[in-house]
Amino acid sequence: MRQHAADFPILDRPVHGRRLAYLDNAATTHKPEAVIEAERRFYRESNANIHRGVHWLSQHATDLYEAARDRVRSFLNAQRADEIVFTRGTTEAINLVAFSWGRANLQPGDEILVTGMEHHSNIVPWQLLCAQTGALLRHVPITERGELEPGAFESLLGPRTRLVAVVHVSNALGTVNPVADIVRKAHAVGALVLVDGAQAVAHERVDVRALGCDFYVFSGHKLYGPTGIGALYARRELLAAMPPWQGGGDMILTVSFERSTWAEPPARFEAGTPNVAGAVALGAAIDYVEQVGLERIAAHEQALLAQATAQMQRLPGVRIYGTAARKSGILSFTVQGIHPHDLGTILDSEGVAIRAGHHCAMPVMTRFGIPGTARASFALYNVEEDVAALVAGVRKAQRLFHGEPVR
Ligand code: ALA
Repeated sequence: MRQHAADFPILDRPVHGRRLAYLDNAATTHKPEAVIEAERRFYRESNANIHRGVHWLSQHATDLYEAARDRVRSFLNAQRADEIVFTRGTTEAINLVAFSWGRANLQPGDEILVTGMEHHSNIVPWQLLCAQTGALLRHVPITERGELEPGAFESLLGPRTRLVAVVHVSNALGTVNPVADIVRKAHAVGALVLVDGAQAVAHERVDVRALGCDFYVFSGHKLYGPTGIGALYARRELLAAMPPWQGGGDMILTVSFERSTWAEPPARFEAGTPNVAGAVALGAAIDYVEQVGLERIAAHEQALLAQATAQMQRLPGVRIYGTAARKSGILSFTVQGIHPHDLGTILDSEGVAIRAGHHCAMPVMTRFGIPGTARASFALYNVEEDVAALVAGVRKAQRLFHGEPVR
């Protein structure tokens, strides 16, 4: 995978005079030249508003936008392109489901079931929805290893559960959840399932029909695509029955002062001028990862994770959070006596970019009784030198804080 690092121009940029070891990929990935060029080419050659113009350029831009939608469809193995709604990202997609499907369908006493390892974007929209509808938010606790507590999901699932909203891969711990099994059990009690795939789609192949989920959401920017674009997959019959959640141009059939009527999905959920260039560049990002090969990417990241885990475990005072049997390329850790933010700053001075803090998953930190962790997260362009720089940076921080680490 080393050769693919050359596709990402930003990786050539030194930071603090050091070679950049970018290990903050769970926050956002860098963009290959093909994605940067697709966005640039759109503005240079194809820019126009979509679904509105009678002129050639508008039709051309519309064709590119709809082709990108079909690219997302094939990437997720959805059946139909009109099951894909473009959004600003994962967060907006979850809010869309909460405020369209949720407001129309939930009654007081209904339950939404999440897990103890959710990102804030898969907790807070449901809390807002519960405040409006009288529904209740419940959560499945997690174990010391960062897996779902055995049997807890099954015991919390019941006739009042209307929706299970679960993260596919935890951004804070790396845990890969058994989504197909969760869907099967939720459907058996008549609940729908939303899967937050923000941290999954760039790291393993996702097939929404094989998973059987009702909603699947992800962001472009963690998939080597632009910021400000993402997608919601929803089964056609669900989308068809869902009311709009934002009003404006392009989502209507007719408008009068007495009454307006709605366009069919997906237009019903894409009010206003969308991020056309972003959608086109997201299509290019999907082409890119497909060319490299998701299976190869997964194997490469697993190898780096195994190396980094083994080397970090050998350092005194290092504790790793998230040791699930099925894990993605995320290494969350603390170092005794050094606050994660201090660690992040020292690593930064060595050119190593990690994230430090609660990773927008405060309940995970509360579960483990810590304010935060340091987190290294891998992407297809990372190499062994990045792992070596991380480990050397942690050792340097230990020397600065404590003198030579005890062997
Ligand atoms: N949710 C992103 C992260 O995990 C921003 O860092």
